[in-house]
Amino acid sequence: MVIEILRIGQRLVRDDRVTTHVALAARAFGASKIYMNEVNPEIKDTLDGINKTWGGDFEISFIDNWKELVKRRKNDSVRIVHLTMYGEDINDIESRLEKEKDLLIVIGAEKVPREIFDLADYNVAIGNQPHSEISALAVLLDRILKGKKFSTSFDEAQRKIIPTKQGKNVVVKNTRN
Ligand SMILES: C[S@@+](CC[C@H](N)C(=O)[O-])C[C@H]1O[C@@H](n2cnc3c(N)ncnc32)[C@H](O)[C@@H]1O
Repeated sequence: MVIEILRIGQRLVRDDRVTTHVALAARAFGASKIYMNEVNPEIKDTLDGINKTWGGDFEISFIDNWKELVKRRKNDSVRIVHLTMYGEDINDIESRLEKEKDLLIVIGAEKVPREIFDLADYNVAIGNQPHSEISALAVLLDRILKGKKFSTSFDEAQRKIIPTKQGKNVVVKNTRN
């Protein structure tokens, strides 16, 4: 299953930290790419640095026209999952989502355009209370992938954490050779 994320909009107040955390959560919980509009391009350098240190090839792409991307993905038979507190209960539809092949998960930053509710194949609520796109995305990805991503290990990573009961155990690759 290939999972991509589309984040529409950014709050008018500077939202760079939240935007970075959306991308970090998408990467850590198993998505392969995130599309964003209206963001500070420096976020790409941050994520490239994370990939270099911790491995993997998570991608960021800046787009102008989110609707065009959604329509293109629909034509490719990718299912569009829009996260919204007004949607269907995740507990009722997670088993259907797990069986889908590829997904484009859409999250908002502020009020999202009405059209996305109609373009989506699934409008999904992670509970019907307002919270955040970071928490909604993390819960959805974990429900679909069941934590499988957490056992992925990247050979090319400069640093690798060895899970340990106390303290920190990090293997640092010698890159001087
Ligand atoms: C800060 S919220 C924006 C809420 C905004 N008032 C609205 O009506 O869309 C940003 C994003 O978080 C996600 N989100 C927040 N709460 C959610 C929930 N309970 N279930 C699913 N997604 C949620 C949605 O993708 C939403 O667009």
